[in-house]
Amino acid sequence: MTTPHHATDFLHDLRRRSATEGGVFWVDDGLLAVFEPHAARKVSGANWSDLVMHDRLTDLLRRRSSTPVRWTRVRGAWLTQLHRLATAEHNVRMLERMELTVGEVLGEDDVDLVMLAQEVAVRSLLPLALSGLTDREAAVVHEDLHQKLVRLIALEPVRGPWGRLLFTTVQVRAGLVVRRVLRQRASGRRPRELDLADPFVDLLPELGMDRALDVVTAVLTAIGGPPGAAAASVLYELVRQPEWTERLTEELAGADPERFFASPTRTAPVTHRFVKEVLRMWSPPLVLMRQARQAFDLGPATLKEGQGYLLSPHLIHRDGRNWQQPDTFDPDRFLPDAPHGPADKASYVPFGWAPKNCVGADLGTTQLMLLCYLMTTRYHLTVPDPDALTVAYRFAPVPQAFRGTLAQR
Ligand code: HEM
Repeated sequence: MTTPHHATDFLHDLRRRSATEGGVFWVDDGLLAVFEPHAARKVSGANWSDLVMHDRLTDLLRRRSSTPVRWTRVRGAWLTQLHRLATAEHNVRMLERMELTVGEVLGEDDVDLVMLAQEVAVRSLLPLALSGLTDREAAVVHEDLHQKLVRLIALEPVRGPWGRLLFTTVQVRAGLVVRRVLRQRASGRRPRELDLADPFVDLLPELGMDRALDVVTAVLTAIGGPPGAAAASVLYELVRQPEWTERLTEELAGADPERFFASPTRTAPVTHRFVKEVLRMWSPPLVLMRQARQAFDLGPATLKEGQGYLLSPHLIHRDGRNWQQPDTFDPDRFLPDAPHGPADKASYVPFGWAPKNCVGADLGTTQLMLLCYLMTTRYHLTVPDPDALTVAYRFAPVPQAFRGTLAQR
C-alpha cells in the first residue's frame, strides 16, 4: 500500500534518479520513467495518435465490434463548447460561484485552505461540465468527486466492506445522474444546456450510453482534481510571496473589470505570469501513468507494447537541465527573453502533451486568475506562519496544515 510518506519519498527518489540517469530510466522491470521533455512529447504523440473509443459492454454482450468513435471527435466537441463558454459573462458567473463558496467561511478561524480551494474549484466548474442539475443531483455528483478527492489527497484506502460499498454506491448514483440527464435531454424532458456534456446528447445514437457516460465522467474527473490542487497552490504562493501579492493587488485593483473578465490573460500580464509560475512549480497531477499501445524506441530504452511508462510535468519543470534555479519561485522567468525562462517549449507542460493535452487549459488558467482577483481585491487571507509551511506530494502537491482566516477587504 502507498502511504502518504512513501508518496513524497517516491517522488524525491524519481527526481534524484532522473538527475543522475538522464531523464529516461527503468523504475522497475515493467515501468519506464520518461522525464526528458522531448522523449515525453514523442511518446505521447505517437501513443495516442489514432485513439478511438470502443463500446466495451456492447462488444462483450453482442460479441461483435461496436463502431469506433475517434477521440479527436470527442475533444473537438469539448473544445467547441469551451470556446462558447469563454466569455466575460460566463467568467463573471464563475467568479460569483467562487465568491459564494468563500463567503461560507468568511470570518471563521482556522479554515482548511486545501479543502476550501478544492470546493471553490469544483463548485465553480461543475455547472460548466454538467448544468441544470437539481440540488439533490448536484449533491450526489459532488459527493462522488469529494470522496475520490479525499482518497487522492490523504491516500486513504477505502476501508472495510461497508466503506467500499458506500464508495461504490456513491459512484454508481453519480453515474445514474449523468445517464438520466443525457437521456432526458435527448427525449426533450430536460432542456438542453450550454455545458460540456451537451454535445454527447446528439452523439448518443452513435456513442451509446456507456461511452457517453465515460466521456462525461472524464470531464468530471478532470475538474475534480487538478483545478482544486492548483487553486491550493495559488493560495500557498499568495501567502508565501507577499511582494508578488502586492504586485498582483496593484494590477488587479487597477484593471478595468470589463476588460479583465473578457480577457484576463491580456489584461493582467503580471497575474498571468504568477499563475504560470505556480503551475510550473506545483503542476498537478505530479505523475501520469500510461500504457504503451505500441513499441517505442526512445534511444536510452525501448518500450514494448503493453508496458507502462510514467510522465511528469512537475519533474520536467524542476529539472536544472530545462530551467535555471528550478526551485526558485519567480514569475518573471516568463518575461520574453528572460535568462531563466524555459530551455524550449517542450520544457513547460503543465497541461500535458498533444494529442491528449488538457482541453481545459485556458479555462483552468482563467479560473486561477479569477481566484487571484478575489484574493487580492475582495478578501484578505491570513495564515499564521507562512514560512513554516511545507508541501507533501500526493496525486498533486498538497500544502500541509495549511489553515488560515479569510476576511472581507
Ligand atoms: C489548472 C487546472 C488544470 C490542470 C493543471 C490540468 C492538467 C491536466 C493534465 C496534466 C492532463 C493530462 C494531459 C496528458 O495526458 O497529456 C489533463 C487532461 C484533461 N483535462 Fe485538465 N487540467 C486543468 C483544468 C481542467 C479543466 C478546468 C477542465 C475542464 C474542461 C479540464 C479537462 C481535462 C480533460 C477533459 C482532460 C483529458 C483530455 C484527453 O484525454 O484528451 N482540465 N489536464
